Amino acid sequence: MIRQSYIFGIVLLAVATLSSCAEDPNAPGVEYMPDMYRSPALEAYVDYGNNKTMDWTQTRKDRNGIIAVQSRKPVANTIPFTSAEMAVYVMPYPLANTPEDYELAATKIISPMKSTKENIERGKEIYFHMCQHCHGEAGHGDGKISQNGFIEGIPDYATKLVDLPEGKMFHTITYGKGLMGQHASQLSQYERWQVIEWVKCLQKGISEPEYDANGLLKVATAEAAPAATAPATTVTQ
Ligand code: HEC
Repeated sequence: MIRQSYIFGIVLLAVATLSSCAEDPNAPGVEYMPDMYRSPALEAYVDYGNNKTMDWTQTRKDRNGIIAVQSRKPVANTIPFTSAEMAVYVMPYPLANTPEDYELAATKIISPMKSTKENIERGKEIYFHMCQHCHGEAGHGDGKISQNGFIEGIPDYATKLVDLPEGKMFHTITYGKGLMGQHASQLSQYERWQVIEWVKCLQKGISEPEYDANGLLKVATAEAAPAATAPATTVTQ
């Protein structure tokens, strides 16, 4: 009896081993427990065919007529489906990458975003990850990369760019300018406007933004006060 089950076991093992072989040298063969060695997480740039637990070989995909579905570009002239509130952030950017359109951006491109705590804080985070190494923590153009001499002349937001309109900022982040590369492929329009929220703070020299009861950025009254009194003084003179 023991001998019989022993033989049966060997036969079963042999069948299992042999049946897992495949004619395609790149195929892993039959996998009895694929979830043990295939990560269930979807990774970018890995083509899983239509079965996310298997990354199929080309031969098997060809045979099954499977076309890669990962990491494709959106179809031209299509707009992603989204909520009504977010729709404004997925519309195509109307301006082209030309000097004329850069000038137009100053007046034509207006931020649809409110200066809320949430947007400013997210913008700060994006800035920290994607801009700070060039533009510097406070936006003076003194980030680490600017110090090694490869990228020079990064302008200070609070002096040279103090009057830069938000539309031009958006245009530059979308298409790049001079030594600054485009960021449209890394940041959605929503994220671009969020990072602009933070750049606008740096432009005004605000490093610790304060918010009102509605969670909106408090307009810096301390800064506005001298400007408001200045014309009055000129009038009296
Ligand atoms: C590789 C370094 C580098 C990175 C990264 C970088 N910038 Fe710049 N940025 C520059 C340089 C250089 C300029 C000056 C471009 C010019 O006027 O020729 C510039 C200019 C700008 C301007 C002024 C544009 C204008 O219209 O005059 C803004 C606003 C700006 N950057 C925002 C950002 C934001 C936001 C990020 C992060 C998402 C970022 N930059 C990432 C190097 C960089």
